[in-house]
Amino acid sequence: MENKTKKLTIAIDGHSSCGKSTVAKSLAEELNYTYIDSGAMYRVVTLFCMENNLIKNDVVDEIKLQEELNNISIHFTYNKANKKYLTWLNGLLVEDKIRTIEVSNNVSVVSKIGFVRKKMVQLQQEMGKAGGIVMDGRDIGTVVFPNADLKIFMTASVNVRAERRFKELSEKGDCVSLKEVADNIEKRDYIDQNREISPLKKADDAFILDNSDLTREQQLTNIIELVNQKS
Ligand code: DC
Repeated sequence: MENKTKKLTIAIDGHSSCGKSTVAKSLAEELNYTYIDSGAMYRVVTLFCMENNLIKNDVVDEIKLQEELNNISIHFTYNKANKKYLTWLNGLLVEDKIRTIEVSNNVSVVSKIGFVRKKMVQLQQEMGKAGGIVMDGRDIGTVVFPNADLKIFMTASVNVRAERRFKELSEKGDCVSLKEVADNIEKRDYIDQNREISPLKKADDAFILDNSDLTREQQLTNIIELVNQKS
């Protein structure tokens, strides 16, 4: 289905590991829109910090990071044939590296830094300025695209999210326990919701989608109904 009438801007926010990106990718594919994973951008900056010794015990060397931020180039590619989205840092493929539990454990402290957020929001707004975009994250409907045509706030119980993420990481061969994954999710929820700048919260005009008991198909059907109402 291609939306020929109006190229919408669709914001999908919500808690960590609730399947935002899976649904957002399917939706973008269905509508023939661009998909942007804003969380991947914060993960890239985090990986950069880790690889350049700019983060230790949850403390970021903000002075150095600020100096380096303009040297961090992030881009995404999409392969239509195998439907794979890939993330690149300064020309190097980092898709797998940014998804590890080590990066997940460090990303919240990096993503709460004001100048990092400012830069990522600028990049995200630039990527979305032509419309026809599905972007997922934490502040897309509240900060990045406050005038988005459609806003969805996704959530699911911590247990359901931890089990899904655990399965995903285990399948990739990541040696991690279910408890470690659940603890990481709870910690990230707390930091995301309580940080000073752009905390995770539902935009007033966002539709809530609790997918604890929904299949992927059901989630997509629900969102497409909303898209059709907006087009
Ligand atoms: O969506 P994700 O779990 O890959 O995101 C990684 C982290 O980045 C998450 O813990 C919070 C942060 N993030 C954010 O602060 N703002 C966004 N728009 C997207 C992600």
